[in-house]
Amino acid sequence: MTQTIYKNYNHLLNKFYVDDCVHFMQNNVSNNCIDLIVTSPPYDDLRDYNGYNFDFENIANEIFRITKNGGVVVWVVGDKIKNGNKSLTSFKQALYFQQIGFNVHDTMIYAKKNTPFMRSNAYTNSYEYMFVFSKGKPKTFNPLKEETARSGLEMLVANKKSDGKNHKVLKELKKEKTKTNIWYYAVGLGGTTNDREAFQHPAMYPEQLAQDHILSWSNEGDIVFDPMCGSGTTCKMAFLAKRNFIGVDISQEYIEMARKRLDKYRNVLCI
Ligand SMILES: C[S@@+](CC[C@H](N)C(=O)[O-])C[C@H]1O[C@@H](n2cnc3c(N)ncnc32)[C@H](O)[C@@H]1O
Repeated sequence: MTQTIYKNYNHLLNKFYVDDCVHFMQNNVSNNCIDLIVTSPPYDDLRDYNGYNFDFENIANEIFRITKNGGVVVWVVGDKIKNGNKSLTSFKQALYFQQIGFNVHDTMIYAKKNTPFMRSNAYTNSYEYMFVFSKGKPKTFNPLKEETARSGLEMLVANKKSDGKNHKVLKELKKEKTKTNIWYYAVGLGGTTNDREAFQHPAMYPEQLAQDHILSWSNEGDIVFDPMCGSGTTCKMAFLAKRNFIGVDISQEYIEMARKRLDKYRNVLCI
């Protein structure tokens, strides 16, 4: 089954496209064929992206249609503050994804280690949301691990015996544990990426963030799609992780940037 899908999609894979993503999905991608989407939409009107048409509901509807059963969508988003009032667009979008049939599998945090956003009358904002939506139960979860704070031997509680008491025994502490759902990244050159040319895009997310999601929710050979790929962060990391990628952005300039960025790793045809 999977192989049939890949055969049918070979011509689309590992390329970038300049297009409105709704138009692209409607005209090129059939139902239930994408394993993973890792993407970040324009946040309210916080940035100027060379002019675009952001049709959120149709984007979400198309994303639902093309995602495989068991596929996952990672939606990285923040909110604008206007007149002291947070837009909560992120939550409204998450509720819409839920309404059209996705599970809100997790609400993860992308915490920035540096350059947080200062406010004079509120605590410094240093995070964005990473909503993880799944179409049914996720078919893939490869949990990322991190080192535990302590290691070595310690007296640990063993199972209760028939006397009902907690007995302690000397045991080796686990060396690693599954990561929490708050992920920390440095941003800027050397943090977000080392690819200098990518900084012409105003709103990249860290390539490590893209990689961490790609490794968690997909396997080698899967199709990873970014419908608003900007400088091509998701596509680059999908390629390096031996996944197939499809990258779309409405801006010719950003797609050219993405292509050049990936060309350093492999020659990719840009249409
Ligand atoms: C937050 S940025 C994505 C940045 C990207 N994750 C990266 O690391 O470079 C959002 C992108 O959405 C693109 N965009 C906005 N509306 C679009 C649409 N209708 N179709 C395709 N791309 C669109 C913008 O041009 C912009 O590059």
